[in-house]
Amino acid sequence: MEIRTLKLDDVSEDYVSWFSDKDVIKYSDNQYKIFSLDGQRDYVKNCLNDKNILLFGIFVDNKHIGNIILNGIVSVHKRAEVSYLIGDKYYWGKGIGKSAVARVISLAKQDLKLNKLFAGVAKNNIVSRKILENNGFILEGIRKNHLFYNNIFEDQYDYGLVF
Ligand SMILES: CC(C)(COP(=O)(O)OP(=O)(O)OC[C@H]1O[C@@H](n2cnc3c(N)ncnc32)[C@H](O)[C@@H]1OP(=O)(O)O)[C@@H](O)C(=O)NCCC(=O)NCCS
Repeated sequence: MEIRTLKLDDVSEDYVSWFSDKDVIKYSDNQYKIFSLDGQRDYVKNCLNDKNILLFGIFVDNKHIGNIILNGIVSVHKRAEVSYLIGDKYYWGKGIGKSAVARVISLAKQDLKLNKLFAGVAKNNIVSRKILENNGFILEGIRKNHLFYNNIFEDQYDYGLVF
């Protein structure tokens, strides 16, 4: 598994198809969006041009299987929000999500000299919560009924990792 900055050339039909999978979008605002090849190209282009964002692709044997993103990196508070997805479900449950978050933690600490990462997760997204907890993130708070996913209101668990 490796992570590297996502480029325009990485945008493929496979990448777009991740977002038609209900399991992949179940716990994110992506369930309310419409995805297309042009739309993803614009998204990647905007990320590449935004000083505040670092968008990485997650690759296995050179195959693009997911993304991990740092948002808000140019902050006087020296913190950024991390979010991630593995769009190709074949690769779920193999420790890749956990490793991708570990890589981004060391990059945020050593290269970006940030002080903190944070992430908000739907209460029922147990696997994602495990990824954060196993990477040392601490539960900082619970926002009651903060999310409306799959036709129900859900609490958002806010995690933080101070270096
Ligand atoms: C969440 C997601 C990134 C997980 O990635 P992954 O590579 O499958 O996760 P990992 O294999 O690293 O597993 C993480 C932990 O969850 C556990 N786990 C994996 N699948 C599980 C399952 N079905 N039930 C319970 N635990 C499970 C693993 O054992 C591991 O815990 P451990 O380190 O204590 O053994 C992936 O499922 C995904 O992209 N989902 C859709 C998008 C999403 O929800 N993103 C997060 C938004 S906050």
